Amino acid sequence: MSSTRRVVVARRVFPALIDALKQRYEVVDNQSDADLTPEQLTRMLADADGALISGRERIDAALLAGCPRLQVVSNIAVGYNNIDVDACTAAGVAATNTPDVLNEATADHAWALLLAAARRVGESERFLRAGRWKRWEFEMLMGAELHGTTLGIIGMGRIGRAIARRGLGFDMRVVYHNRTRLPAAQENGALWMDAEGVLRTADHVILVVPYSPSTHHLIGAPQLALMKPGAVLVNIARGGVVDDAALIDALRSGRLAAAGLDVFENEPQLNPGFLDLENVVLTPHIASSTRATRNAMARLAIDNMDSVLAGRRPAALLNPPVWETAARAARVTPR
Ligand code: GLV
Repeated sequence: MSSTRRVVVARRVFPALIDALKQRYEVVDNQSDADLTPEQLTRMLADADGALISGRERIDAALLAGCPRLQVVSNIAVGYNNIDVDACTAAGVAATNTPDVLNEATADHAWALLLAAARRVGESERFLRAGRWKRWEFEMLMGAELHGTTLGIIGMGRIGRAIARRGLGFDMRVVYHNRTRLPAAQENGALWMDAEGVLRTADHVILVVPYSPSTHHLIGAPQLALMKPGAVLVNIARGGVVDDAALIDALRSGRLAAAGLDVFENEPQLNPGFLDLENVVLTPHIASSTRATRNAMARLAIDNMDSVLAGRRPAALLNPPVWETAARAARVTPR
């Protein structure tokens, strides 16, 4: 039966993976990096059994109502704020994501941003490229100290813990906030505090929380005011966790030394205020973007989709209750 299943690949992924998919499914491969409108996505999924999507495709009740055969939406991302998971459960659609396989690459990128922002790497390079380096100066482009300082992590999931481990290599003390305190064995010496405590205590703060209504503008003007003067803030979580306008004010005034940002409100549009600032390092939502990691993410997403379409519970199921529902069973219909 699986040979007649139709799956949609909503955004371009490695062609070799698509070729393998074509061995077992009828594949509608969008082969595009362009964002789809909700109407385009609904049309594309209208007759699909499974969908591989990125974090840019929004899955909600309205879309699901137009896709009666759809059994699984498989996100090629760990964050899943693009998916209304409750709507999927109500509609009988399994929703999956790609945890774990991107922990290390994403933690590396958080550190790339922290190092670059603290040590003014982007600004220094722009200085050189503009031909402005005329002589060596004792106080030239002095940055913020990292080694021996206190690293704060807000969101101590698997990626947060990978970031914390790297901090120990820099002789940093690690403080963290997580809704639930980790078991001591997983803390690895890091100290739990409430979020305010982390902001007040840490010399540098990295944000790794999922985006939801409860984390919208988790860091705004009042929270930035709690941070140490001269601190560095890194956001690899999601746009919207930080109030970008408030951050721009804190960077412009020098209240924060610098920021490193991979995610933005309304991305790919940037608040133009960032572009005028020297003390911010900006990357276009690429924290997990290495060939090996993107390959692992796509493979896990395909594996999740394969499992559901074969009637097996997938490894990374976001809505376990769906597995028991009659609504899910009703979607499993032969072509
Ligand atoms: C990337 O942002 C992801 O959620 O995987």
